[in-house]
Amino acid sequence: MRTDPERPLQGRRLLVAASGSIAAVKTPLLVSALVKAGAEVRCLLTASAEKLVSASALACLSRHCCYLERDQWDPACSRPLHIELAEWAELVVVAPLSATSLGRWSQGIADGLLASTLLASEVPVLAAVAMNTAMWKHPAVQRNWDTLQTFPGVLPLAPGAGLLACDRIGDGRMVSPELIELAAASLFSRGMQHANAERDWLGRSLLVSAGPTVEPIDAARVLTNRSSGRMGVLLAQAARMRGADVVLVHGPLQVPDAWREGLHDLPVQTAAEMGELLIKYQPYADAVAMVAAVADLKRRDGGLSSKPAKNELNCLLSGGWEDVPDLLQQLVRQRPQVQRLLGFAALSGSEDVLLERGRIKLQAKGCDLLMVNPIDRPGQGFGDVRNGGWLLGDQLQLRLPAMSKLALAHHLLTALRESLPRMS
Ligand SMILES: Cc1cc2nc3c(=O)[nH]c(=O)nc-3n(C[C@H](O)[C@H](O)[C@H](O)COP(=O)(O)O)c2cc1C
Repeated sequence: MRTDPERPLQGRRLLVAASGSIAAVKTPLLVSALVKAGAEVRCLLTASAEKLVSASALACLSRHCCYLERDQWDPACSRPLHIELAEWAELVVVAPLSATSLGRWSQGIADGLLASTLLASEVPVLAAVAMNTAMWKHPAVQRNWDTLQTFPGVLPLAPGAGLLACDRIGDGRMVSPELIELAAASLFSRGMQHANAERDWLGRSLLVSAGPTVEPIDAARVLTNRSSGRMGVLLAQAARMRGADVVLVHGPLQVPDAWREGLHDLPVQTAAEMGELLIKYQPYADAVAMVAAVADLKRRDGGLSSKPAKNELNCLLSGGWEDVPDLLQQLVRQRPQVQRLLGFAALSGSEDVLLERGRIKLQAKGCDLLMVNPIDRPGQGFGDVRNGGWLLGDQLQLRLPAMSKLALAHHLLTALRESLPRMS
C-alpha cells in the first residue's frame, strides 16, 4: 500500500499497547487521534494497565475489541494471539512503556501477551516510556533503555520533564499523544510503502531555524510575516525521529506545542536574537537548516518605547528602517569546513524564473543546498500544510512536487544526510 502524503496514517494497521503506568490514561486520547487520522487500530493492555485504564473505552474508540493478557490463553484462538497481532500490525506503538515491560523486552523475556508480541514483531515499534524520575534514573532501567537503542526498527521516545503523578517534578513524563501521532505519521511519510524507523541521523547534530521573526516598530506594533513555522518544526522533529540531536531556534509559531517536545527548543523574537543563538550553536552542528522567514528590515532605533498615534504613523514608517543582516550568509561565512548548510528561498513567478533566481541565490549565499519554494501557488507555502518546489545544489536540481511538509522534510533530510562527510 502506498502512503497518501496528505494522510500518512490512512488505512494503516496500528497495534497500540499500554503497560502499567498511570500515563495509560492518555492512551485513549492517542487511540482516538489515530483513528481520526484514518488508521485501523487494535489495542492491547497488560494486566497492570487494565487496572489503570478502561479496556471498554479503548474498544469503543478503536471500534474493535481490546486484547488483554488472558486472551493469549483463550482456547478459541486457533493461532497464537501474539503471532496474529505481530503479523497483523504495520506499526506497533507502546504508550506507555513501563519499566517492567522495558525490562522484559530488552532482555528478551516473552512472558505475557505484550512481551511476546514485541519479540514476535518484525515491523517498526514506537516506544514511549513513562515512570517516576528515580525509577527512570535507576541504572538497571538506563541499561535496558540503552539496550533498546540497539534494536533495529525501534523508535524510542524518551520521557520529558514535568509534574509527575507522584507529585515529583522531573524526567519520566511520557511524551504527549500529539507527538506520538506525529512520530507515527513521520515513519509512514518517510517510508511511503512501509513505516521506516531507520535512524540514519544517529550521532549527528542538526541546527534548525523556523518561523517568522518579529521586529518591534513601537510599543504596540511589529513587523513580521506569514510564516507559521510548520516546515521548520517538522524538519526538526523528523530529524529527531531519525536519530539526530536537534537544536531548534524559532520565532513565534502556529503549530502544536507538542511538536517541539524532545528538541532543544530556543524561542526568540527578533532576527538579532535568532542570529545570536544560531552563531552560538553553529560550531556544534554537523548541518544547519535555515528554514526561518527572517524579516528583511528592522527599525534603526530598535523600536520606540511609546505608541505614536495613528495620524503620526505615516511619517514614522516612511523612514528609520535598516536592512537585517543576511543570517544564512553569515552562517556560511563562518561555518566549520565539514558542516553542510540548507537554505530556503521563498520566491514567486514561473518555473523558469524561479529556477534562474534560485541558482543566482544559491551562488550568492554559498550554501550547499537551497530549497526553492514558490509562495504564489494555491495550497502550498506560507501557512499551508503543503510545500514543494526545487531542491538545488552544485550538481543537483530535484523537483519536489507539492506534498505534506512532513514528507518534504524527509526528502530534504535525506539529501542533507547524503551530503554529510562520512563519520570517522
Ligand atoms: C498507580 C500506579 C502507577 C504506576 N505507574 C508506573 C509508571 O508510570 N511507570 C512504571 O514503569 N511503572 C509504574 N507502576 C508500576 C507498574 O505498574 C508495575 O511495575 C507493573 O509490574 C508493570 O507491569 P507491565 O509492564 O506488565 O504493565 C505503577 C503502579 C501503580 C500501582
